[in-house]
Order: sequence, then C-alpha cells, then structure tokens
Amino acid sequence: MRIATGSDHAGLALKSGLVEYLESLDHTVTDHGTHGPESCDYPDFAAKVASAVASGEVDFGLLLCGTGVGMAITANKCAGIRAAVVSDPFSARATRQHNNANVLCMGERVVGLGLAREILAAWLDAEYEGGRHQRRIDKITALER
Ligand code: RB5
Repeated sequence: MRIATGSDHAGLALKSGLVEYLESLDHTVTDHGTHGPESCDYPDFAAKVASAVASGEVDFGLLLCGTGVGMAITANKCAGIRAAVVSDPFSARATRQHNNANVLCMGERVVGLGLAREILAAWLDAEYEGGRHQRRIDKITALER
C-alpha cells in the first residue's frame, strides 16, 4: 500500500518506528515531515498528509503527534478525509470496517511502539464492509457540502 505519514516533534520517534515497520512489510511510505526534534506545528503536517490522501496520491494517511488529537482535528477539515484517533487494535479494525477511515492518528504520549505496531497491523488487515455503513458515510460526506 501507499501510505503518507507526518508528525510534529512530539510524534517523531513514534513515526520513525512505524515507518521502519511499514517498510519491513514492503509498503511504500512518503514521509511529509517533520524530520527533526525542533518544536513545530502539527497542522502543517496534517494538511500535507490529508491532501495526499484526498487527492488519491496514496491509499492511507498515518499521523502522529503527542495525543493524535490535533492531527485528527486538522485532517478532518479536509474534504474526503475520515481521520480517527486510535489507541487500541479493536478500534483500529472498527474504524476501517465501519467508518472507512482513511487516516490513522496516534499519540506518542499515549501508546508505545509495540502497541502502535499492533494498532497499525489491525488497521492494515481490516477492510471496509460497506452495506449499511455506506448510508452513514454518505451522511458524513453530505456535511462537507
Ligand atoms: C505538542 O506539544 C502537542 O500539543 C501536540 O503534539 C498534540 O498532542 C496536539 O494534539
């Protein structure tokens, strides 16, 4: 899969660990930064990743910050984006199966690398189920207009 990723300074270490994990599984990762430990603003990176997902350039987005929350708030401002903050594998699976989420957000101050890898694996393995869920997604999409 093609995955765009981004983090602020507070999610940088988690991003590095997850990029390594994704590449070990042969996924293609585009890293939109940040690349250093200096303090920076999470909306700058969320906007880049959200736009790569919304344009169809990549299949999914992966955003990391201290909590994952600021990234999700920002990414969800972009039409076509369904970003979810997740801290357990059950929710990761459900956000794909039911919500057809296309951006996964996690917080480095919330989950460790081991759990984050499990969350990401659950997310990548799950598939959108369509059916009754599509009616609900259509109602979310209608709010964008
Ligand atoms: C940075 O200190 C922190 O506010 C940010 O990484 C994130 O948690 C915001 O949602």
